[in-house]
Amino acid sequence: MKYIIGNWKSNKTFVETYQWFDHFAPLYKTNPDLTVGIAVPYPYLFEANKKINELNLDQVKVVAQDVSPYPFGAYTGAVTAAQIGEYAELAIVGHSERRNYFAESHLEIGNKVTQLLEQKITPIVCIDEPYLEKQLAAFDQDQIREIIIAYEPLAAIGSGHPADPKHVAQVAQRIREVSGVDDLPIIYGGSTNAANTKTYMEIESISGLLPGGSSLDPAEFSEMISIAQSN
Ligand code: PGA
Repeated sequence: MKYIIGNWKSNKTFVETYQWFDHFAPLYKTNPDLTVGIAVPYPYLFEANKKINELNLDQVKVVAQDVSPYPFGAYTGAVTAAQIGEYAELAIVGHSERRNYFAESHLEIGNKVTQLLEQKITPIVCIDEPYLEKQLAAFDQDQIREIIIAYEPLAAIGSGHPADPKHVAQVAQRIREVSGVDDLPIIYGGSTNAANTKTYMEIESISGLLPGGSSLDPAEFSEMISIAQSN
């Protein structure tokens, strides 16, 4: 399976979310080998799910951008995996923006993955090269077989300077070695767009992309999907 997962981060209003799906729908063509994910802010999980069903967007899934490391309970402001799971099939965890701005630890991220897997939500775990071993050590072998890894080099995120594809291939190889899982799905994120999608999708060890900025524009995002489908 290949993946194109758009991460909207803290962008778009309710009306803009609606408009995005209306623009995207006529441009999108489904392909059974490619899963498309749209990681919307929490308040739009319900509407995004409704829009996907109404517009018959096959193979398009709602993705959460984060999850609570705790189950139901007295954790003000936190959104649990069970609550997310009513609308989303996947969730991003451990994005460098969460690790840096919200001081999330490896342990917390491990707990988030545990919560997600209990609800049968697929975690997309973001990791970066300097901390690769420590970040992967937060998961046991059974968990690692259930997750998608996103290799997201810090310098490439939002900078317009995507990582060297050869280097991406080498890091993907290292992630496989360290994790001990040969068929681990690894996607790449960091300044990806329609112009460089082909280059990254051609890397054998890479199963897809996690675009941030490029996913905000439905035309560019659907172009990335079409390019990924033809690779
Ligand atoms: P970017 O973001 O595509 O805007 O660089 C990628 C990400 O942070 O997931």
